Parts: sequence; structure tokens; C-alpha cells
Amino acid sequence: IKHLRSAGDLDAATATLILDTAAEMAALSGREVKKLPALRGRTVVNLFYEDSTRTRISFEAAAKRLSADVINFSAKGSSVSKGESLKDTALTLQAMGADAVVIRHSASGAPHRLSNWVDGSVVNAGDGTHEHPTQALLDAYTMRSRLGRLDGLKVAVVGDVLHSRVARSNVLLLSTLGAEVTLVGPPTLIPLDVVAALSKTTKVSYDLDSVLPDSDVVMMLRVQTERMQDSFFPSAREYSRRYGLDVTRMRKLPEHAIVMHPGPMNRGMEIAPEVADSPRSTIVEQVANGVSVRMAVLYLLLGGK
Ligand code: CP
Repeated sequence: IKHLRSAGDLDAATATLILDTAAEMAALSGREVKKLPALRGRTVVNLFYEDSTRTRISFEAAAKRLSADVINFSAKGSSVSKGESLKDTALTLQAMGADAVVIRHSASGAPHRLSNWVDGSVVNAGDGTHEHPTQALLDAYTMRSRLGRLDGLKVAVVGDVLHSRVARSNVLLLSTLGAEVTLVGPPTLIPLDVVAALSKTTKVSYDLDSVLPDSDVVMMLRVQTERMQDSFFPSAREYSRRYGLDVTRMRKLPEHAIVMHPGPMNRGMEIAPEVADSPRSTIVEQVANGVSVRMAVLYLLLGGK
């Protein structure tokens, strides 16, 4: 594939190739190979119109470990603040010879538009409420490395599905790889039409306590209060009482089950601090795996040597 704009771009074989390549990248890092020459002479542009900590830093680290030249562009402080359009920004990057553009944008579909204007590969680093495919890949990688498989794995994705690009990409990718996804949350935060369009096999539940005992993975989503209207969200306390993962609730999980969160977290809202910092939590591991997975994505898209 040339671009990674959606987790739906990936069939099972391609997704598995990315995960296997990420495992090789991680093994090399574990053997103290800090830098590979694979993308020497290639240019990767990180084009971030929205804030990011994990994704932006890990794409930069991934490109540098592959010896690519990296240009970091943030909309703040650029000519975007003077009204320059995405298209004109893209043409400027094209003129500078970008081999890959990693884009985060508040508009759903921005990576698709961008791919019409640049010759290089486009990687979606999160577009609006639409998708975040490399997050889904690093989540799948983490599940596979902790639990040994994805096929048949029971994954509960919990919370603000309505506003979550992470949930959409995870539903697409995990369904492709044979996992059984159940979306859990209040009815106002689970868009049934969107879920049905994404996957025929994904289940929906409004009762977290009944889903936990039969889950191998519980993935807590950030409550995106900045995108909320009052009608979606009764109160933080009520949400936390019904859908927050605290220590008592965590005990309902089978012993082998893991707790995931893409970050950033609202500690005390969707996840209790004791749960986030517990041995079952893979939150820090997910961030570390993100570098290997993004190395694999850049390497495969750019045909690294
Ligand atoms: N998970 C994630 O996308 O985090 P950032 O917003 O910090 O990149």
C-alpha cells in the first residue's frame, strides 16, 4: 500500500506484516541497535494541526531511528495562522520533496484530501473523530505481545465511542484480525449506525459490569469533554460510577486480562489512578510499542532497504 489513511486500508495479511515488522524493529532496539540506515536520504514531514504528545514524538523517534530526515511542522506559529489552506501547505511540502507526510488534523478526511495533492505517502495520525490507524496497530501489537494472539480475543472498548477515532480504527483493525469487539458505554455515546457501518460482528453493551468477566482486554477511552454537549453526558460523577474502571471493577476481569488506554487519560474519570498504574495496565508499554509500530509503517510504506 502507498498510504495509511484508514485501518480499513489494511487486509489481514498487510496488518500482520506490519505487526511482524514492528516486532523485528523492537528486537533490534532490544539488541542496542539504536539506528538503522533503512530510510537514509528520505524525508518525513510531521504535519500537526492538532495537539499531540505521544503520536508526534513517536513518529519523530521512529523516522530518526530509520535515519530519515525529519521536518516537524506545527500549525501554531506557521502561515496557517495567516489563513494558508491545507492544499497550499501541502504543495509547499511537496516542493520541499517530502517522501512521507504524517498528518494530524481536526477535520475528518483531511488525510484523504492531502493524498490527492502530494506525491509521497500519507499517514493518518488522527483526523477529527474519524480514525487513528497507527494507534489501532500499536494497540493490536500490544495485545498480541501480551496475550499471544488476536484471533478470537475478546476486547471491550469502553466509553466515549462517539467522539473516538481510536475506537473506530480499533473496530476496523481488530475485526480484520479476528478479535471479537464489544463497545460499551452510555447509549448517547455509542452511534449504532456508525458501528453497523464499520463492522457486522461488533457487539454493543450498556452494562460494563456484565462484560468484564468475559473480556481478555478492556480498553478505556478518554472522555472527550471538549467535544461534548450536555445532552451526551449527564455528569462526571454519574459517568464514572457506571463506566469508570476502578479497582473494585477491575477485579471482575479474568486474571490474565489486560487494561489499556490510548492516552491522554482523565485519571479519576474513566480510569482510577490505581488501575492506570497497576501491573495489568499496558499504558506505558503501548507508548513504547508505538515507536516500533511507526517504524514498521514508515519502513514498509517507503520501501526501506
Ligand atoms: N494516543 C494519542 O494519540 O495521544 P496523543 O494525542 O498524545 O498523540
